[in-house]
Amino acid sequence: MNDLDDQISALEQGQTTINAKQTEQIAYALASSIPANQVLAFHGELGVGKTTFIRALAKAWGIKENVTSPTYNLYKIYQSNDRCLIHLDAYRLEKSADFENLMINDFLNDPWCLAIEWPEKIEDSIPSDAWHFYLTIEENTFHHLRLARLQ
Ligand SMILES: Nc1ncnc2c1ncn2[C@@H]1O[C@H](COP(=O)(O)OP(=O)(O)OP(=O)(O)O)[C@@H](O)[C@H]1O
Ligand SMILES: [Mg+2]
Repeated sequence: MNDLDDQISALEQGQTTINAKQTEQIAYALASSIPANQVLAFHGELGVGKTTFIRALAKAWGIKENVTSPTYNLYKIYQSNDRCLIHLDAYRLEKSADFENLMINDFLNDPWCLAIEWPEKIEDSIPSDAWHFYLTIEENTFHHLRLARLQ
């Protein structure tokens, strides 16, 4: 196993972070092992750190713009030499048809990453090979992060 495999399996076991910086470090280290053309689904309550994680991925991929919450415009597109990142906040979507209507697939330049907050709103549109991140806050203090890959 190399370092990246180690990082992925550590995340699959679940990791605890005590501040946002630690969450960012985990994301930063993981970024290069996320395959091209990958959907990432971020599950977790308000303020649990979904955007924080995605912002650090963007930095690691050389995206200069600071990733901010796209809640009011649903999604934002970022581009670097490394990756076309589309950050979708599905919170205000009600069903998969709403997602299909956005025609996001038309904007995905290979190699791309589609990072989705609140994926449960558009469950039927999440591909089976998506990577799922489950974020929680334990005992009102520790943030916990776990990766699940179904394929
Ligand atoms: N261990 C931690 N990991 C991540 N964020 C943390 C941690 N500890 C504190 N924070 C703080 O919690 C907040 C997380 O906000 P963030 O916008 O990333 O959440 P979110 O899950 O995207 O929320 P929303 O559903 O509203 O979009 C940030 O202010 C961050 O600094
Ligand atoms: Mg967010």
